[in-house]
Amino acid sequence: MTVVSPHGAEDRRAEGGPSSNDASRLTELLQRAPVIPVVVIEDAPCAVPVARSLVAGGLPIVEITLRTAAALEAIGSVAAEVPEAHVGAGTVLSEEQARAAVSAGAKFIVSPGLHGGVVSAASELSVPVMPGVTTPSEVQCAWNLGLRVLKYFPAGLAGGIPMLKALAAVFRDVGFIPTGGISAKNLRDYLEVPSVIACGGSWLTPSTAIADGDYEEIRRLAAEAKAIANESKE
Ligand code: 3PG
Repeated sequence: MTVVSPHGAEDRRAEGGPSSNDASRLTELLQRAPVIPVVVIEDAPCAVPVARSLVAGGLPIVEITLRTAAALEAIGSVAAEVPEAHVGAGTVLSEEQARAAVSAGAKFIVSPGLHGGVVSAASELSVPVMPGVTTPSEVQCAWNLGLRVLKYFPAGLAGGIPMLKALAAVFRDVGFIPTGGISAKNLRDYLEVPSVIACGGSWLTPSTAIADGDYEEIRRLAAEAKAIANESKE
């Protein structure tokens, strides 16, 4: 499944826009390592070692959430200093935040919900955007905006795997990224749903491990998730 950017971004990518590689690299990485760590960085200097640990464990996609004052600086540091990582911004709530995140170095945008301003800003900036949805109406709105890869959030509370299967039966060309309530315990079950192209979650970067500088624990959690993903795709 190709990560499709909103209407408009396609045309700019065809013209060789600066972000054409972002979408294809994200697609390739999602196929190789279908787990997206959702990261909260309180202190910007922690971002680079966290990203390096995730990459070392086999997870090159890093979603840094705009929930802290340090987030934009953290995105910039990872973009500049960890070229093996593919850094994006999560918890993007507004068009302004989308623009700030891309200026800082974000190569993709993730939102908890579906917002037209965020989607159109991503389109204009030619970066992939994955808004959160839980209902058929939201999926249909996103589909009509040209999106074919959507975050399913909060996955566990919104109906989990049975709801995902019900949505996938109707929206046959949509790929879902369940996030919210995923862990090493249920990752395999979610990844085995055919419409699921990846899973996201914060369990890979516990706040205590970041605060304690326990980067080996982050590497271990990433490697565990990568191994589960490898098994589920066999
Ligand atoms: C997100 O922003 O996607 C969620 O906070 C992740 O949910 P989780 O903490 O249950 O993994």
